Amino acid sequence: MMADPRPTVLSVASECVPLVKTGGLADVVGALPAALAAEGWRSRVLLPAYRGLLDQFRTLTPVWEHGDLFGGRGVVFAGRHSGLDLLLLDAPHLFDRHGGPYHLDGDDHPDNHLRFAALSWVGARLAIDGTAEGWRPDVVHAHDWQAGLVPSYLRYAGSSVPSVMTIHNVAFQGIFGPDQLDAVRLPTWDFHPDALEYHGLVSTLKAGLVHAHKVTTVSPTYAEELTTPEFGFGLEGVIAARTAHGDMVGIVNGIDGARWNPAGDRHVAAYSPADLTGKAHNRRALLEEFGLPEPVGPLAVVVTRLSHQKGVDLLLEALPGFVEAGGAAVVLGSGDAGYEYELQQLTQRYPQSVGVRTGYDEPLSHRMFAGGDIVVVPSRFEPCGLTQLYGLRYGTVPVVAATGGLRDTVVDASPENIRVGTATGFAFTDISAAGLAESLARASAHFADGPTWRRLQAQAMATPVDWGPSAQRYASLFAELLE
Ligand code: ADP
Ligand code: GLC
Repeated sequence: MMADPRPTVLSVASECVPLVKTGGLADVVGALPAALAAEGWRSRVLLPAYRGLLDQFRTLTPVWEHGDLFGGRGVVFAGRHSGLDLLLLDAPHLFDRHGGPYHLDGDDHPDNHLRFAALSWVGARLAIDGTAEGWRPDVVHAHDWQAGLVPSYLRYAGSSVPSVMTIHNVAFQGIFGPDQLDAVRLPTWDFHPDALEYHGLVSTLKAGLVHAHKVTTVSPTYAEELTTPEFGFGLEGVIAARTAHGDMVGIVNGIDGARWNPAGDRHVAAYSPADLTGKAHNRRALLEEFGLPEPVGPLAVVVTRLSHQKGVDLLLEALPGFVEAGGAAVVLGSGDAGYEYELQQLTQRYPQSVGVRTGYDEPLSHRMFAGGDIVVVPSRFEPCGLTQLYGLRYGTVPVVAATGGLRDTVVDASPENIRVGTATGFAFTDISAAGLAESLARASAHFADGPTWRRLQAQAMATPVDWGPSAQRYASLFAELLE
């Protein structure tokens, strides 16, 4: 077989669609390889072999191994799945266990620092030593705190392989005590605020931000926000320093058009901008699924982690006014038990207009994006956000807080933007229950005006949300590092 002449990027991450997902990180890690292939880059994705993951592969080839990976054996298997070229780190003492990737019954696995340091260490070793197949990456792309130590391990080993660190969410930083430095094979001599130290502790995300050749985040607005104390979660200083050196770039996420496309989505009736009959069918089916009668106003959908970041409390406060004015809402979410309880209370108060499903349900999420009139995303901060992008693609008009990637991807239906035909949704800058309520009321008013609504929907569906231009930006960044 002839060697593939294309440069390769090794993407190191803790999640990847369709194998393991808790949020948007997985969508991005799973979609980038195909998008980068169009730009002349080959990708391999290194993932932990969580329990059951290897069973999903027909053929696996061992390509690397290490006898003492932080307390046990580690083997990397190469395998293909859904068009992805994967490297799976099989280390049963770290990854073969009950629970999700990070938690068991709501509590973090106590050795998460070891588990993901091991993933990062192996990512760096693969880049340095290569695999048994004789392959080595040209660039390493580390995602979030779970892969934050990859750039550090590369630096400490004196490797010349360049690395890119992407921040998907700065709120999660991979913090542990300096007493663990030896255990994760990091040098105690570099434990100071300019390198590994973060207020007396170690932060794997900070380490990545200091040691990577380039840093990216998932939207231009979030890149700016990250340099401020309000959004930087204590890392604004490091980020501002990298920004000042021209090492920081915001690249907005795209969506995977093969999975998210109303014209060919196996979970729903097909439709297109030219013919929305299928959408009307999906809407009726969704109302029926939740046992709700046809509302006078718009049907709002919300698909989200139930957390403070996502503004679930704002939603709880604003929904009563919205449904009392004729709207209906269906919510799919999992996370904070308090929010789950309060959402259930709301369905009891408004059984004719509010429906809630707790848990994680990918097919239902498709039915919701396809059947809703509006998708509501009232986040306090949002690095990029994907559900508003799904909304745009499915003609489900986004109602969003004007922050981070939400601000970069949704054009508010101001009178001027409606007049010139650029409006794609509703964005509120006063991120509060009142701000959300005001936007919901505006959306309801526009919904009542058929022609305006159809124009908004058409404009939303015409918005380019594919990976193309963003994949191009990643590719140029990688290429720059090869020079
Ligand atoms: P975040 O990664 O911060 O949670 P994003 O908007 O980037 O936010 O991505 C969330 C992803 O997870 C989207 O693909 C969304 O559809 C999906 N999602 C969130 N909650 C659920 C759920 N309960 N069931 C199914 N999909 C969900
Ligand atoms: C994070 C962010 C979200 C972003 C996703 C993928 O989970 O919270 O805004 O869309 O990563 O980059």
